[in-house]
Amino acid sequence: MESGISRRAVVGAGIAALGAAPAHTQTSSGQVGVGVIGVGLRSGAHLKALAQLRSESKVTALCDLESARMAKAAANLPAKPEMYTDYRELLKDKNVSAVVIVTPGYLHHEMTLAALRAGKDVMLEKPMALNYREAVDIVRETRKTGRIVCVGMQRRYSKGDTEIRRLVESGAIGPVKFINCEEYRNDWNPQTAKVLDKKTGKMVSWRMLSWAAGSSELEFSIHAFAMVTSIVNSPLIRLAASGGVVHYKERDTRDVSSVLVDFANGVRLNYAFTCFARGGSKLLIIGDNGMIRREGGKLFISKGGGALQPAPFTDESDDGAEVRMYREFFQNVRERKPSPLSPEAALEPSKIAFGADISIRENRIVTAKDFPAV
Ligand SMILES: NC(=O)c1ccc[n+]([C@@H]2O[C@H](COP(=O)([O-])OP(=O)(O)OC[C@H]3O[C@@H](n4cnc5c(N)ncnc54)[C@H](O)[C@@H]3O)[C@@H](O)[C@H]2O)c1
Repeated sequence: MESGISRRAVVGAGIAALGAAPAHTQTSSGQVGVGVIGVGLRSGAHLKALAQLRSESKVTALCDLESARMAKAAANLPAKPEMYTDYRELLKDKNVSAVVIVTPGYLHHEMTLAALRAGKDVMLEKPMALNYREAVDIVRETRKTGRIVCVGMQRRYSKGDTEIRRLVESGAIGPVKFINCEEYRNDWNPQTAKVLDKKTGKMVSWRMLSWAAGSSELEFSIHAFAMVTSIVNSPLIRLAASGGVVHYKERDTRDVSSVLVDFANGVRLNYAFTCFARGGSKLLIIGDNGMIRREGGKLFISKGGGALQPAPFTDESDDGAEVRMYREFFQNVRERKPSPLSPEAALEPSKIAFGADISIRENRIVTAKDFPAV
């Protein structure tokens, strides 16, 4: 671990290079002062990861509309944080230099732009925004302010995805040509915050309404899309999707969908999703010289036409992905180096989710022209 002094020196040099204003605060021991906005279900994973990185960070502030949630979270912190019910007040807090945004998707655009303009670095939960225009705003504001933003798609740091990327990059199956991914999960957690469904007059989980969540593909499948785009490494050129609400009632985010994507380098993706099954996901990556298969948390590989063999790796149940993501984020903050999950990088998987929604709603093929360059 670096000392606080050398870390501050590194930060200062990096910031000067970027021409950005220095972050407001590091504690006297060089920790990054962190403010968490949205203390619902997902914040537990963030606070747990931050608790393992206390030499690098200190949670100095919390914000939620519900004080009871903040009080519960604060009880597990070593020092009492400031507590705010208005996130704009948290953004004025000089003891916060990095903000963690863990609110429902419809708030990400507004909160991220405000945080960047307040001079904060940002750990932003996925999805980065609800549509391409908003996502582009975030990319542009990140560039303009020179802040470090990581879009929290932690699967990048899971051992399974890391091993798959390593195998593909090593050339073990030759150039990738086709990816098949199926994800059959159960319904959204009923404990999530409720918002008003104006059509029915009922309070429902924000994930069931597209104005609040964007779409199921954006809210859930984005993780798989991020994994695919990190392997394919080539822009989307054409996409067609189909889907709808076939199992549940009174919701407008889809419970089933299928997405076909062509990438510029010739790779094809075939993706399927439902949220009325009891779990189960499958991934198949086929290259010119073999294939990688993941099923039930296990990884297999076949090379040169040979039989599938187990490819050992630590399964997905390890909870180290968030810790690894934060460790790299804090390093990026110290060195003023863009995150591998920067808003710019997060645009590619987001395009697949946005494109699936456009394709289904407008009953048409989506192409690269739907996503003008930033
Ligand atoms: N990376 C992952 O694997 C993963 C998993 C689950 C959720 N998420 C993401 O995390 C985010 C939050 O999801 P969740 O499951 O925790 O939802 P949630 O409904 O449980 O929590 C959201 C919290 O935000 C608070 N909130 C709402 N409006 C607010 C405002 N204006 N100011 C401050 N706080 C406000 C709510 O009171 C609630 O406590 C979403 O973006 C979701 O997509 C990511």
